[in-house]
Amino acid sequence: MTTLHDVMPTSAPTPRHATTRRYAMTEPRYFAVEYAINPWMDTSTPVDPQRAVDQWESLRRTYLDLGHTVDLVAPRPGLPDMVYAANGGIVVGDTAVVARFAYPQRAPEADAYADWMAGRGLTLAHTAHVNEGQGDLLIVGSMMLAGWGFRTEREAHDEIAAITGRPVVSLELVDPRFYHLDTALAVLDDTTIAYYPPAFTDAGRTRIAELFPDAIEVADADAHVLGLNVVSDGRHVVMPAAATGFAAQLHDAGFEPIGVDLTELLKGGGSVKCCTLELHP
Ligand code: ARG
Repeated sequence: MTTLHDVMPTSAPTPRHATTRRYAMTEPRYFAVEYAINPWMDTSTPVDPQRAVDQWESLRRTYLDLGHTVDLVAPRPGLPDMVYAANGGIVVGDTAVVARFAYPQRAPEADAYADWMAGRGLTLAHTAHVNEGQGDLLIVGSMMLAGWGFRTEREAHDEIAAITGRPVVSLELVDPRFYHLDTALAVLDDTTIAYYPPAFTDAGRTRIAELFPDAIEVADADAHVLGLNVVSDGRHVVMPAAATGFAAQLHDAGFEPIGVDLTELLKGGGSVKCCTLELHP
């Protein structure tokens, strides 16, 4: 006799639910690799600006097709990294914490993003220490995971906890290729994350495992194409197309991976998440 157990998959994936999101993006009209402030950047590699714009446009269309809203920030000449909107700050409700950049080449982007935030009627807050916005500060449910070690300073985490009223969990980054938290850890929904263990200290890995016992551990090959630099709406995970192993893991966990090609923007050391500032309700 055939039992139910024989016909059911051994572990059915958890059903996942999408919620509508609001994002901000900045067109890479002035994108270039004019300086090298992370190991992905090589100023001798040619960049095709039109290809960068086309790839960015298909990312924007992907969000719109999923029913999300995309606000546009005006790009400014002379700021080639402004396309990485995630670094512009963090927005939670009516409060915007404006970025304070580690490198002088990107410092003027803080004003550009602050002007845009003020124009939306948000209340601006500033930190005394370096904070590179959602590159290092990721909201998961009611808490915030915060990276430090390469860009955002550890002291900024306390400032941001005070501003937002959210508990902040500090995680030290140790591999220069994974210089922002959003290159090493992906938030998939309010209780689920994926991460690349070698990018963290032993203490960080222990903390992550305690907080997220179901965390997806991503392999070297996927991490090294910035596969963790994704944007999830709780169900659909927009991600670098080359991270095929991670896509399979997501599928097995009940998510819907949607691969996009952002290879031109990878030359600056960023991908899907870096190009996307989520405006949290
Ligand atoms: N070239 C930029 C930098 O090094 C890339 C930023 C990527 N953004 C991110 N959220 N990881 O600052």
